[in-house]
Amino acid sequence: MRGQLFSLMITILLLGSLLTCVFWHSLNNYHVEPQKLPPHQKNAPHPGLCKGCREVIIKVLEHYSKPWKRQEDNYQKFRSQLRSQCHGDTKAFITQGNTPVGSKIVYDGERKRTLEVTPDIFRTFIKEYPFPNKTFDACAVVGNGGILINSSCGNRIDSAQFVIRCNLPPLAGGYKEHVGIKTNLVTANPSILVGKYQSLIKYRRPFMESLHSYGNSLLLLPAFSFARNTPLSMRVVYTVEDFQSRIQPIFFNPLYLQSLGAFWRSQGLKELRLSTGIMMVSLALEHCANVHLYGFWPFSFHPHDFHTITNHYYDDKKPNKAFHAMPVEFELLMRLHSQGVLRLHLGECGAGEL
Ligand SMILES: *[C@@H]1O[C@H](CO)[C@@H](O)[C@H](O)[C@H]1NC(C)=O
Ligand SMILES: *[C@@H]1O[C@H](CO)[C@@H](O)[C@H](O)[C@H]1NC(C)=O
Repeated sequence: MRGQLFSLMITILLLGSLLTCVFWHSLNNYHVEPQKLPPHQKNAPHPGLCKGCREVIIKVLEHYSKPWKRQEDNYQKFRSQLRSQCHGDTKAFITQGNTPVGSKIVYDGERKRTLEVTPDIFRTFIKEYPFPNKTFDACAVVGNGGILINSSCGNRIDSAQFVIRCNLPPLAGGYKEHVGIKTNLVTANPSILVGKYQSLIKYRRPFMESLHSYGNSLLLLPAFSFARNTPLSMRVVYTVEDFQSRIQPIFFNPLYLQSLGAFWRSQGLKELRLSTGIMMVSLALEHCANVHLYGFWPFSFHPHDFHTITNHYYDDKKPNKAFHAMPVEFELLMRLHSQGVLRLHLGECGAGEL
């Protein structure tokens, strides 16, 4: 009995220190250690927020300083790999066609939980796939990075055929010149619905008003990633219908997100959950001939002159580091940039590229 208690205590201690390590590591991962930064950054006003990602920064700036060239072969190869594993062209979203009444949905964030599709749930699904077999000529995926501030990229972004934005970002006011206004698809994370709009169980008008700037775009919700997202996403659909908004709610297919997770893991991305940004990049790579990324830059200084930038172009809320490994994702995106598969924009759009 006493032996058992002892080994239980040891286990708890070991587990505790393991967890602390993991936590400590993720905390430390972003912190400054100026002596480890590349020489030209040592005197920067804000020498980066990275310790673990020092190498990433060096590589990034090195790659980015070379002229970009689209490489058709690399693009086709990557795209067909992505397509054959994830089938985003037909499976990215839940539709009435691919998810009939009676089918079982498995949550991609908690695989033990399933949901049987009832007629009530079914009627919240879009009828058909929104852009079947279509390849857009140029797509812009707009991340919300502080790097967009004063970028003058608005017109360039709006000139894309299809514009994807993440997590209901503000577009009105002074932002338009730098981030544009055109939106064809916008995502909404449950955290913003809960935090900013009281889960739509109180006044819903502020939420509806925030949707005006997105016109008749698709409003993409991860309704079946975690069970708690489902009622929330249903309330979005009901609210949009009740207020007769032109926006079209649409749900991520958890099967697609699951295969996307596996795909990026095979590319070296070992993290708990993909960020919305990389999900949108994946979607764009399957649907667009030319993929342009704006506002993707996970560091707290500008790559051009190292001035301090905020985490988002509209606020300085920090990302959930327990979930996402932004610098690692970014390194992958940079790799695709240097292979000519997609194009990252880190500079100002008006006065030529960085
Ligand atoms: C899309 O392509 C598939 C296979 O090529 C075809 O079976 C399907 O009918 C197409 N869908 C539309 C709406 O054109
Ligand atoms: C953006 O530009 C304005 C006007 O030139 C300037 O006042 C402001 O400080 C700039 N903001 C940043 C974050 O660089």
